[in-house]
Amino acid sequence: MADVRFDGKVAIITGAGGGLGRSHAMLLASRGASVVVNDLGGAIDGTGSDSAAAVKVCKEIEAKGGKAAPDFNSVSTMDGAMGLIETAKKAFGKVDILVNNAGILRDVSLLKMKEADWDAVIAVHLKGTFNCTKAAFPLMKEQGYGRIVNTTSSAGLFGNFGQCNYAAAKMGIVGFTNSIKHEGAKYNIKVNVIAPFGGTRLTATVLPPPMLEAMKPEVVSPMVAYMCAEECELTGNIVVAGAAYFGRVAMREGKGCAFDSSKPVSIEMIRENLAKITDMTDNREFDSVNEEGMDRIFSNIKT
Ligand SMILES: NC(=O)c1ccc[n+]([C@@H]2O[C@H](COP(=O)([O-])OP(=O)(O)OC[C@H]3O[C@@H](n4cnc5c(N)ncnc54)[C@H](O)[C@@H]3O)[C@@H](O)[C@H]2O)c1
Repeated sequence: MADVRFDGKVAIITGAGGGLGRSHAMLLASRGASVVVNDLGGAIDGTGSDSAAAVKVCKEIEAKGGKAAPDFNSVSTMDGAMGLIETAKKAFGKVDILVNNAGILRDVSLLKMKEADWDAVIAVHLKGTFNCTKAAFPLMKEQGYGRIVNTTSSAGLFGNFGQCNYAAAKMGIVGFTNSIKHEGAKYNIKVNVIAPFGGTRLTATVLPPPMLEAMKPEVVSPMVAYMCAEECELTGNIVVAGAAYFGRVAMREGKGCAFDSSKPVSIEMIRENLAKITDMTDNREFDSVNEEGMDRIFSNIKT
């Protein structure tokens, strides 16, 4: 089988001035993609800006014979996202691939969290993913082709103390993807989600050096790159990737407990059937709210 290549494809990677984004950009460029390296170049908490990070990664790509263009827009505003798309159009004429990766952290418990900590994190992760996808989508629709990878986190999928802003943004990105996968389907736009574990500046202060070394961003990027590939048929998938482990995560619903819908339901009926209601044996996945509603809710209606 031939290697996976991206010749002739144009990829935007947000937050690609360092960490995971840089690694995704380097890999896609090494396989022939023209890459727009977007990065605001601020601190971990989102303050400040600097063009140096994006420029440096572009130089690294070009030194290896690849094609790259820097972009310094913030993904957190629609103007910034539109500017990013303009950079791609000016440099390479189109957009085939979008990896929404840019991120910041403002970790603090709910009791101590300031409104500004909530707003800043939601703005970069959730609104940033919306902004860039909204800006790129018309181009992808027009050309009948697109690959989008959004970035979530196990902190959102499974929870973590002190990260309610980040966890909410990251689960918001999953909900966003669940909807967009349907909207992109008829235009051959596939949208998937990566939940990475990477030794980057975001994790450098909380993980010991041997773990950081094993969790190199370079072992996450092949999964992201596959999700960006023309041959990728996956859509709406979430894959956890880190330290050379890859595994799908999915939202599933238990078999549940269906009472007679023509009769009243009491609190005591809930109490008596709690084990059944919360049992996850024979759980299943649904592709949409319609599928779930038909299978579980509407089918239980007695008229
Ligand atoms: N490192 C991990 O273990 C881990 C785990 C789960 C999820 N993630 C997610 O992976 C993504 C990359 O994280 P990382 O660990 O490589 O961190 P990182 O800090 O090295 O990279 C994030 C990049 O995004 C850029 N950025 C921040 N705000 C921006 C904005 N408004 N516009 C454009 N660029 C902006 C930063 O300048 C930075 O270069 C993030 O979305 C993060 O939440 C990382």
